[in-house]
Amino acid sequence: MGWNSWNRFACHVNEALIRSAADAMVSSGMRDAGYSYIVIDDCWQGERDAKGFMAPDAKKFPSGMKVLADYVHAKGLKFGIYSDAGTKTCGGFPGSHGYETQDAQRYAEWGVDYLKYDWCNTDKQDAPSSYLTMSKALQASGRPIVFSLCEWGNTKPWLWAQNIGNLWRNTGDIADRWDGMDPNGYSMGLLKIVDMQAGLEAYAGPGHWNDPDMLEVGNGGMTDNEYRAHFSLWAMFAAPLIAGNDLAAMSPATRDILLNKEVIAVDQDSLGVAASRVWKDGDAEVWVRPLKGGGRAVVLLNRGLTPREIGVSWEQLRYPDHLVAKLRDLWLHKETGTATARTSAVVAGHAVVMLTISP
Ligand code: GLA
Repeated sequence: MGWNSWNRFACHVNEALIRSAADAMVSSGMRDAGYSYIVIDDCWQGERDAKGFMAPDAKKFPSGMKVLADYVHAKGLKFGIYSDAGTKTCGGFPGSHGYETQDAQRYAEWGVDYLKYDWCNTDKQDAPSSYLTMSKALQASGRPIVFSLCEWGNTKPWLWAQNIGNLWRNTGDIADRWDGMDPNGYSMGLLKIVDMQAGLEAYAGPGHWNDPDMLEVGNGGMTDNEYRAHFSLWAMFAAPLIAGNDLAAMSPATRDILLNKEVIAVDQDSLGVAASRVWKDGDAEVWVRPLKGGGRAVVLLNRGLTPREIGVSWEQLRYPDHLVAKLRDLWLHKETGTATARTSAVVAGHAVVMLTISP
């Protein structure tokens, strides 16, 4: 769990922004709710020195990365950075290809705790071996660094990355919209990403997670109900919850979504099993995630605009019909009674109802 600069700020990163994000992570209560990584995405880089060591752009990061990392650490947070397996990053800055050892060493010296490693400008490079090279360089650096693979699912990293990294993107970039493609032609709406998660749940587990990309909650392109659906589904996928909004200027509604501790608890459930889509009928879907202790988290998703009653059967939960289970609505924050065999709810358009069902 953390925050990354890209979705809201793209290339407009600098030291003041990162400091203020770290401040807001604490003052908003997000740190105490479990968010810990402050990650600078692309465009922080300056140039390499004669020995191949990287420095940040001195205009954007005048104090240097070590001082900035110390600031983030002093707030009880962790510090993350971005690079690329190719010759250049997606933004056209120097990539790590051929400099993996120097980069990993320098990150360790700065106090980096997390590396997002992109896949632009990789020409004919082989993805598994390119990511393995950086994985080994990070391990040799002597500092534990979470390794986030960002090759967009091109070569199905869920099949090969379990022992190379800790999380892998399994789609292209997210766009701040409910469905369809962004006019830029490459980033995609929420439902497109949701559809790409079905069937990948078996590959997620403690220490190696599917990454359906960072959150757009609070960036303005969706309604609050749509953002609740976004946050709920990411928790069901056991996905990294990496906020991507302006933390220093959050609306109360955005804060309530990102700080819904009941939904966060589902995301972080220690059983570490991601949800399956157990039912779909047109715009109505049911997603189920088994929880530690025998309970289930359930999302009833209405992709369409018209309110619709959506139900889940105990058979879909793998419970016997006679089992009496307690229902709790994670957005209303209340117990809603008990049920046997089946339960249902009317779900507003472009929204979810999220429940836990516990024997
Ligand atoms: C790619 C990644 C994004 C972001 C940008 C930065 O598109 O998928 O998440 O890191 O590059 O340039």
